[in-house]
Amino acid sequence: EKGGFRSFMEKEIHDQPHAVADTLLGRLDLSGKLVLDEMRIDESVLRSVDKIVVVACGTAAYAGHVAKYAIEHWCRIPVEVELAHEFRYRDPVVDERTLVVAVSQSGETMDTLMAVRHAREQRATTLAIVNTHGSTIPREADAVLYTHAGPEIAVASTKAFLSQITAAYLLGLYLAQLRGNKFADEVASTLTELREMPDKIQQVLDRSERVREIARWMADTPSVLFLGRHVGFPVAMEGALKLKELAYIHAEGFAAGELKHGPIALIEPGQPVFVVVPSPRGRNTLHSKVVSNIQEIRARGARTLVVAEDGDDAVIPYADEVFFVPQTSTLLAPLLTVVPLQIFASELANAKGLDVDQPRNLAKSVTVE
Ligand code: M6R
Repeated sequence: EKGGFRSFMEKEIHDQPHAVADTLLGRLDLSGKLVLDEMRIDESVLRSVDKIVVVACGTAAYAGHVAKYAIEHWCRIPVEVELAHEFRYRDPVVDERTLVVAVSQSGETMDTLMAVRHAREQRATTLAIVNTHGSTIPREADAVLYTHAGPEIAVASTKAFLSQITAAYLLGLYLAQLRGNKFADEVASTLTELREMPDKIQQVLDRSERVREIARWMADTPSVLFLGRHVGFPVAMEGALKLKELAYIHAEGFAAGELKHGPIALIEPGQPVFVVVPSPRGRNTLHSKVVSNIQEIRARGARTLVVAEDGDDAVIPYADEVFFVPQTSTLLAPLLTVVPLQIFASELANAKGLDVDQPRNLAKSVTVE
């Protein structure tokens, strides 16, 4: 049932093109208009929403962070991302004009469920982005947008993460269309690009041999750092989480802009650092800033493992290794850039002889607070 793969996780990583395709399926009509038929919230409510709060835990929260960048840009609605357990036990400012989006693979995470209940008590509208049909969170939320990743068996979340990000993009594009915004062209072109993502994810999988090789060589490494900026920041956090949970290696994800505010002190000769580089084709200066960060850490002896877009020759002089991914727009890049990081963690854990599907101390769904 592992389909010839060594672990469910490896199989699920390879299922990702399908998970994303299935999450998109039936939700884009022939003219490119979004059809979100499980969204049973009145359109007038969605038009009047003045704040979105994403509540989630772990990997699902990183999907929420990616959603924040996309939804704020496309819809001009403020988006906050909250760890569900932190949201629940303070006094969050939430009212009937807030849309609370709960993201969860299992639909059973107790912290996230409690956050949904709390939000409803405050009269917020609640939407669940959930993978497991019939689970508790979608039953309690006002509406549900199912991710169609299929059952995820491995404790470490992979295909659910990509489908959560995909569903969040759909939500953002839907809200942008509904509320009529000045980015109509961008919404249309993003929909086209989203349809191309399953093929591009497949290309990343097809090119994964080098990252596997490096992971096997690095089986004894005591620590790995991950840097990213903009949507690359949650990708860096997710890369670090994967390595912690699967390979029991100390790993931290940082916003690249934070380096000089502290983390650069960790850089010593030989320290491996993954850097997630934004597209050089973007309109802003993100790319050059991250390339400078790579230079800075390399000058201090870091071993730089760079994830960059095809054709980005600027990173080559400063990279010990480059893992190239196909070109896409800045906001959609996480669907591609996280894949080498997932493969790295899974392969490294495998090389250490660890149980990739059932890491120690972890459960697939955390149904206690
Ligand atoms: O089922 P959920 O998506 O609500 O689970 C949330 C987290 O427990 C989950 O993402 C966890 O962080 C995974 N082990 C990550 O690989």
